[in-house]
Amino acid sequence: MSTPHVVVVMGVSGTGKTTVGPLIADALGVPYAEGDDFHPPANIAKMSAGVPLDDADRWPWLDAIGSWAHERAGLGGVVSSSALKRAYRDRLRAAAPGAVFLHLTGDRALIGRRLAERKGHFMPPALLDSQFAALENLEADEAGVAVDVSGTPQEITERAVAALCRLDKN
Ligand SMILES: Nc1ncnc2c1ncn2[C@@H]1O[C@H](COP(=O)(O)OP(=O)(O)OP(=O)(O)O)[C@@H](O)[C@H]1O
Ligand SMILES: [Mg+2]
Repeated sequence: MSTPHVVVVMGVSGTGKTTVGPLIADALGVPYAEGDDFHPPANIAKMSAGVPLDDADRWPWLDAIGSWAHERAGLGGVVSSSALKRAYRDRLRAAAPGAVFLHLTGDRALIGRRLAERKGHFMPPALLDSQFAALENLEADEAGVAVDVSGTPQEITERAVAALCRLDKN
Protein backbone atom coordinates (compact mmCIF):
# COMPACT_ATOMS: atom_id res chain seq x y z
CA MET A 1 0.00 0.00 0.00
CA SER A 2 1.29 3.45 -0.90
CA THR A 3 0.35 5.48 2.19
CA PRO A 4 -0.44 3.31 5.21
CA HIS A 5 -4.13 3.34 5.93
CA VAL A 6 -5.80 4.23 9.19
CA VAL A 7 -8.48 1.58 9.32
CA VAL A 8 -11.56 1.61 11.54
CA VAL A 9 -12.87 -1.94 11.91
CA MET A 10 -16.63 -1.64 12.27
CA GLY A 11 -19.63 -3.95 12.55
CA VAL A 12 -22.21 -5.30 14.96
CA SER A 13 -21.28 -7.03 18.20
CA GLY A 14 -19.79 -10.46 17.55
CA THR A 15 -18.54 -9.85 14.01
CA GLY A 16 -14.98 -10.28 15.26
CA LYS A 17 -13.60 -6.75 15.49
CA THR A 18 -11.51 -7.60 18.55
CA THR A 19 -10.47 -10.96 17.09
CA VAL A 20 -9.41 -9.95 13.59
CA GLY A 21 -8.51 -6.28 14.22
CA PRO A 22 -5.09 -7.15 15.70
CA LEU A 23 -4.44 -9.73 12.97
CA ILE A 24 -5.13 -7.15 10.27
CA ALA A 25 -2.87 -4.66 12.06
CA ASP A 26 -0.08 -7.28 12.20
CA ALA A 27 -0.52 -8.06 8.52
CA LEU A 28 -0.26 -4.36 7.68
CA GLY A 29 2.63 -3.84 10.13
CA VAL A 30 0.81 -1.10 12.06
CA PRO A 31 -0.43 -0.78 15.66
CA TYR A 32 -3.87 -1.89 16.82
CA ALA A 33 -6.04 -0.02 19.30
CA GLU A 34 -9.15 -1.48 20.92
CA GLY A 35 -12.06 0.94 20.62
CA ASP A 36 -13.56 -0.14 23.95
CA ASP A 37 -10.44 1.17 25.72
CA PHE A 38 -11.28 4.77 24.76
CA HIS A 39 -14.42 5.05 26.90
CA PRO A 40 -14.26 7.86 29.46
CA PRO A 41 -14.76 6.79 33.12
CA ALA A 42 -18.36 8.04 33.09
CA ASN A 43 -19.23 5.59 30.29
CA ILE A 44 -17.49 2.72 32.05
CA ALA A 45 -19.50 3.48 35.20
CA LYS A 46 -22.72 3.50 33.19
CA MET A 47 -21.94 0.26 31.38
CA SER A 48 -20.90 -1.45 34.62
CA ALA A 49 -24.29 -0.50 36.05
CA GLY A 50 -26.00 -2.01 33.01
CA VAL A 51 -27.23 1.37 31.76
CA PRO A 52 -27.17 1.61 27.94
CA LEU A 53 -25.10 4.44 26.46
CA ASP A 54 -26.90 7.17 24.57
CA ASP A 55 -25.48 9.33 21.79
CA ALA A 56 -24.42 12.07 24.24
CA ASP A 57 -22.18 9.46 25.91
CA ARG A 58 -20.83 8.31 22.56
CA TRP A 59 -19.51 11.62 21.22
CA PRO A 60 -16.54 11.96 23.66
CA TRP A 61 -15.73 8.28 23.11
CA LEU A 62 -15.81 8.67 19.32
CA ASP A 63 -13.71 11.85 19.61
CA ALA A 64 -11.07 9.93 21.58
CA ILE A 65 -10.95 7.20 18.92
CA GLY A 66 -10.88 9.88 16.23
CA SER A 67 -8.00 11.58 17.97
CA TRP A 68 -5.97 8.34 17.95
CA ALA A 69 -6.80 7.84 14.28
CA HIS A 70 -5.72 11.41 13.55
CA GLU A 71 -2.39 10.87 15.33
CA ARG A 72 -1.79 7.79 13.17
CA ALA A 73 -2.49 9.66 9.91
CA GLY A 74 0.30 8.92 7.43
CA LEU A 75 1.73 6.26 9.78
CA GLY A 76 -1.10 3.74 9.66
CA GLY A 77 -3.12 2.01 12.33
CA VAL A 78 -6.12 -0.17 12.97
CA VAL A 79 -8.76 0.68 15.56
CA SER A 80 -12.03 -1.06 16.35
CA SER A 81 -15.30 0.79 16.78
CA SER A 82 -18.71 -0.62 15.97
CA ALA A 83 -19.52 2.70 14.18
CA LEU A 84 -22.95 1.35 13.29
CA LYS A 85 -24.43 4.68 12.31
CA ARG A 86 -23.40 7.10 9.63
CA ALA A 87 -23.43 9.91 12.21
CA TYR A 88 -20.81 8.05 14.30
CA ARG A 89 -18.61 7.57 11.23
CA ASP A 90 -19.04 11.24 10.32
CA ARG A 91 -17.83 12.12 13.81
CA LEU A 92 -14.76 9.87 13.43
CA ARG A 93 -14.02 11.32 9.99
CA ALA A 94 -14.31 14.87 11.36
CA ALA A 95 -11.31 14.05 13.58
CA ALA A 96 -9.53 11.77 11.11
CA PRO A 97 -10.55 12.69 7.54
CA GLY A 98 -8.38 10.02 5.93
CA ALA A 99 -9.77 7.09 7.92
CA VAL A 100 -11.13 4.16 5.94
CA PHE A 101 -13.78 1.80 7.28
CA LEU A 102 -13.58 -1.96 7.16
CA HIS A 103 -17.09 -3.27 7.73
CA LEU A 104 -17.15 -6.83 9.02
CA THR A 105 -20.41 -8.35 7.82
CA GLY A 106 -21.99 -11.70 8.43
CA ASP A 107 -25.33 -13.36 8.66
CA ARG A 108 -27.20 -13.06 11.89
CA ALA A 109 -27.25 -16.79 12.58
CA LEU A 110 -23.47 -17.15 12.31
CA ILE A 111 -22.80 -14.11 14.49
CA GLY A 112 -25.42 -15.26 16.99
CA ARG A 113 -23.68 -18.64 17.29
CA ARG A 114 -20.28 -17.04 17.85
CA LEU A 115 -21.67 -14.70 20.50
CA ALA A 116 -23.45 -17.53 22.25
CA GLU A 117 -20.12 -19.35 22.50
CA ARG A 118 -18.27 -16.28 23.70
CA LYS A 119 -20.71 -15.52 26.48
CA GLY A 120 -21.01 -19.16 27.40
CA HIS A 121 -24.76 -18.77 27.64
CA PHE A 122 -27.73 -18.04 25.45
CA MET A 123 -27.63 -14.56 23.93
CA PRO A 124 -31.06 -12.89 23.94
CA PRO A 125 -31.93 -12.57 20.24
CA ALA A 126 -33.29 -9.05 20.91
CA LEU A 127 -29.80 -7.80 21.77
CA LEU A 128 -28.30 -8.78 18.46
CA ASP A 129 -31.49 -7.74 16.65
CA SER A 130 -31.12 -4.24 18.07
CA GLN A 131 -27.56 -4.10 16.72
CA PHE A 132 -28.72 -5.08 13.24
CA ALA A 133 -31.60 -2.59 13.50
CA ALA A 134 -29.18 0.21 14.37
CA LEU A 135 -26.71 -0.70 11.61
CA GLU A 136 -26.41 1.71 8.70
CA ASN A 137 -24.22 0.23 5.96
CA LEU A 138 -21.39 2.21 4.40
CA GLU A 139 -22.69 4.58 1.76
CA ALA A 140 -21.21 5.17 -1.69
CA ASP A 141 -19.42 8.37 -0.61
CA GLU A 142 -17.71 6.74 2.38
CA ALA A 143 -14.18 5.39 1.96
CA GLY A 144 -14.28 1.77 2.98
CA VAL A 145 -14.94 -1.85 2.19
CA ALA A 146 -17.18 -4.60 3.50
CA VAL A 147 -15.76 -8.04 4.19
CA ASP A 148 -17.66 -11.20 5.04
CA VAL A 149 -16.73 -12.93 8.30
CA SER A 150 -17.33 -16.53 7.35
CA GLY A 151 -14.25 -18.72 7.75
CA THR A 152 -11.28 -18.52 10.07
CA PRO A 153 -9.81 -15.30 11.46
CA GLN A 154 -6.80 -15.85 9.16
CA GLU A 155 -9.06 -16.13 6.10
CA ILE A 156 -10.93 -12.97 7.08
CA THR A 157 -7.63 -11.16 7.58
CA GLU A 158 -6.43 -12.13 4.09
CA ARG A 159 -9.77 -11.06 2.62
CA ALA A 160 -9.59 -7.75 4.47
CA VAL A 161 -6.01 -6.94 3.46
CA ALA A 162 -6.82 -7.77 -0.20
CA ALA A 163 -9.91 -5.53 -0.07
CA LEU A 164 -7.91 -2.68 1.46
CA CYS A 165 -5.27 -3.02 -1.28
CA ARG A 166 -8.00 -2.86 -3.94
CA LEU A 167 -9.23 0.33 -2.31
CA ASP A 168 -5.89 1.94 -3.23
CA LYS A 169 -6.35 1.09 -6.91
CA ASN A 170 -9.79 2.70 -7.19
N1 LIG B 1 -13.67 -16.14 12.29
C1 LIG B 1 -14.07 -16.60 13.46
N2 LIG B 1 -14.31 -17.91 13.62
C2 LIG B 1 -14.75 -18.40 14.80
N3 LIG B 1 -14.98 -17.65 15.89
C3 LIG B 1 -14.77 -16.33 15.80
C4 LIG B 1 -14.31 -15.73 14.58
N4 LIG B 1 -14.20 -14.40 14.78
C5 LIG B 1 -14.57 -14.17 16.06
N5 LIG B 1 -14.90 -15.33 16.67
C6 LIG B 1 -15.39 -15.49 18.04
O1 LIG B 1 -16.65 -14.82 18.08
C7 LIG B 1 -16.80 -14.10 19.31
C8 LIG B 1 -17.03 -12.64 18.99
O2 LIG B 1 -15.86 -12.08 18.42
P1 LIG B 1 -15.29 -10.68 18.93
O3 LIG B 1 -15.35 -10.61 20.40
O4 LIG B 1 -13.97 -10.48 18.27
O5 LIG B 1 -16.37 -9.69 18.28
P2 LIG B 1 -16.49 -8.10 18.42
O6 LIG B 1 -16.90 -7.60 17.08
O7 LIG B 1 -15.23 -7.55 19.00
O8 LIG B 1 -17.71 -7.93 19.43
P3 LIG B 1 -18.04 -6.67 20.42
O9 LIG B 1 -18.60 -5.58 19.56
O10 LIG B 1 -19.08 -7.22 21.35
O11 LIG B 1 -16.76 -6.28 21.10
C9 LIG B 1 -15.53 -14.38 20.12
O12 LIG B 1 -15.78 -15.43 21.03
C10 LIG B 1 -14.52 -14.79 19.06
O13 LIG B 1 -13.56 -15.67 19.61
MG1 LIG C 1 -14.87 -6.36 20.67
